[in-house]
Amino acid sequence: MTGLEGDGLPMTALAVAAGRAVEASRPDRLIDDPFAAALVEGAQSSQDWPLAWPDPLDAAPLQQPILLASTYIGMRTRFIDDFLRPGEQTRQTVILGAGLDTRAYRLPWTDGARVLELDLATVLEFKAQVLAGLSAEPGCELVSVPADLSHSWGELLQAVGFDRTQPTTWVIEGLLPYLDADAQLLTLQEVAALSAPGSRAVIERAVALPRTQDFEAKLREFSAQTGLPMSELLARADPPDPSRVLGQAGWRCTEHPVEELCSRYDRRISLAPDAELPAARPAAQPTAQPAAQRGGFVLAWL
Ligand SMILES: C[S@@+](CC[C@H](N)C(=O)[O-])C[C@H]1O[C@@H](n2cnc3c(N)ncnc32)[C@H](O)[C@@H]1O
Repeated sequence: MTGLEGDGLPMTALAVAAGRAVEASRPDRLIDDPFAAALVEGAQSSQDWPLAWPDPLDAAPLQQPILLASTYIGMRTRFIDDFLRPGEQTRQTVILGAGLDTRAYRLPWTDGARVLELDLATVLEFKAQVLAGLSAEPGCELVSVPADLSHSWGELLQAVGFDRTQPTTWVIEGLLPYLDADAQLLTLQEVAALSAPGSRAVIERAVALPRTQDFEAKLREFSAQTGLPMSELLARADPPDPSRVLGQAGWRCTEHPVEELCSRYDRRISLAPDAELPAARPAAQPTAQPAAQRGGFVLAWL
């Protein structure tokens, strides 16, 4: 399994878009993404992605992991949408590993807002083509920046007009697990180096995956069942702690574990109708668990 569709579109980007389509179809939806289903359909994927929320008890067994994932994707998308509320936006927003994220099109943006999206050229071109076919217009100035984020990308960003003297909002969602530890560190350091006072960031942590044979076998089995290339996740060992890296550069960081999102949005990551909410830890409360095993989100302000 290569993790890429024939046209070079990563399966993971499609899976997340499918998750948003499923979430947006729920009567109790946390987000509205009118473009997600069209993006998945446009890819003519080899996988049969669910695009609507069925009665979970009727869902085919192979669709159940994706439905569970969509519950998480819904909360994650909403959490970041909330961070990008118009009153709190900076004029400049950079979305690293933007994938098939359509925030530039579907969120309300303040006048003069500029959104720079970085991802592989194939992903950005596919997204632009599908959205143009839907006559969708971004609500901001949108700049697509094809980039390989496993290498330094700061100069590329500045070459397309990114202004490092202005505050920036950074979005790092679903990207870090696909970068090895060195590239994750470089990305966080570049964020810090390019940020003017008043900048802010939302970062989804990469969870370090165990390197046991048993765990690798489970990942392969899950990949074979769902079509998601989980076995290609690179964040195997010692990912840097975003709070630590940005904290050392003078940022104020708060921690937001997944349990907090479940409690905030009243969602359970379970298909059982009577599942209980996980006990919520309040934001920023210290935990004994090492950062790399925690998952969840970091919000940061400079
Ligand atoms: C799981 S998707 C998440 C996309 C998007 N943030 C979202 O939530 O919908 C991961 C994205 O990271 C991008 N990505 C992974 N490795 C990359 C790299 N080395 N350079 C550029 N983009 C990369 C993929 O192309 C993909 O779009």
